[in-house]
Amino acid sequence: MKFLTVIGARPQFIKAAPVSRELRKLHTEIYVHTGQHYDKNMSDIFFDELNIPKPDYHLNVGSSTHGKQTADMLEGIEQIIFDEKPDYLLVYGDTNSTIAGAMAAAKLHIPVIHIEAGLRSFNKRMPEEINRIMTDHISEYLFCPTDTAVQNLKNENVARNVFNVGDVMYDAVLYNRNLSKEKSTILTDHRLEKGEYYLITVHRAENTDDPANIKNIIEAFSKIEGKKVWPIHPRTRNILSGMGLDLSLVPDLQIIDPVGYLDILSLVSNAKKIITDSGGMQKEAYFLEIPCVTLREQTEWVETLEDEANILTGTDVGKILEAIQKDVRPSYKDYFGDGQASAKIVQHFNKEV
Ligand code: UD1
Ligand code: UDP
Repeated sequence: MKFLTVIGARPQFIKAAPVSRELRKLHTEIYVHTGQHYDKNMSDIFFDELNIPKPDYHLNVGSSTHGKQTADMLEGIEQIIFDEKPDYLLVYGDTNSTIAGAMAAAKLHIPVIHIEAGLRSFNKRMPEEINRIMTDHISEYLFCPTDTAVQNLKNENVARNVFNVGDVMYDAVLYNRNLSKEKSTILTDHRLEKGEYYLITVHRAENTDDPANIKNIIEAFSKIEGKKVWPIHPRTRNILSGMGLDLSLVPDLQIIDPVGYLDILSLVSNAKKIITDSGGMQKEAYFLEIPCVTLREQTEWVETLEDEANILTGTDVGKILEAIQKDVRPSYKDYFGDGQASAKIVQHFNKEV
């Protein structure tokens, strides 16, 4: 079978790595990189260090408004579908690259496979929520990471070809964590000691694009005692410099460029706590049993909230500081499968070879 896979944003390169490794054993896969993320540390670094095959097509759409960015992708992907005539189109997660791929294919009657289907925050102000709902409703095969995701789809009357296979991000963590231990030098590079720093990531539009929210977040960081390391997303770096917020006033904070996957796994595994609004980082903290504080009002990953392994604070300074103080010892429970999600997904299509 011939699969056209559309990827474009950082977490999609990480999710695609284990699936492509399985898929390419028996099938043909063609990669379309939309170019949604393009800085070296947001894109190429993952292809190099995770041995992901190079994209066959690169649309170079770059950054723009939602409408223009998605429309440019749609136009480019449609043409590639005409040229390549794939049997299936494969998309991951909830970004603009996801919905563009799904829409282009569904209208040309190419069955869409959605990996990480069924996630919901129930907050339609998030662009990701709109992308997820739309993608799920036009997909032919929906591979869910959790039972909650399956139930969310049931509640929307989506039940055909819905499978809980576990989370491909868990596959990726299991595959790479020893490699990370062997190869990453990030702790010594930045003079960090195990268990003695907080790891921060922030990039959600609801936080970065609301001046009151981002100011609260920075105020909270300035009140957290101890070392903090923050590989900063370009979106957030641009917004903070536009606002003229001076991060040098935050004590003990190291701002660094976004890092590769082996380095982030090392940073997560050795952190005292994770402070984030990232979907992927909430899960990685949970997989690696590191307490997480999430700067959001809701999470799609509700399983991680059990026993306060992950605590939702929104951007309230008091709540953030309170959550940081809590003594939490997370232990992984197998809500996210057994690390074989990629193989289970591919098995669905092997009978067609
Ligand atoms: C996107 C996804 C989000 C996902 C995140 C992963 C959508 C709507 N959002 O958010 O769901 O969690 O990716 O990281 O699809 N920029 C650069 N260099 C880059 C990429 C981005 O400078 O390589 C800057 C640009 O100023 C751009 C901004 O970041 O305008 C936002 O990028 P964009 O891809 O639109 O959204 P993300 O916030 O990255
Ligand atoms: N990540 C990374 N380098 C970084 C920050 C994050 O490799 O500097 C990884 C992170 O470990 C996770 C993925 O990128 O696997 C999450 O992406 P992001 O937070 O950008 O998006 P989200 O998961 O919120 O959609």
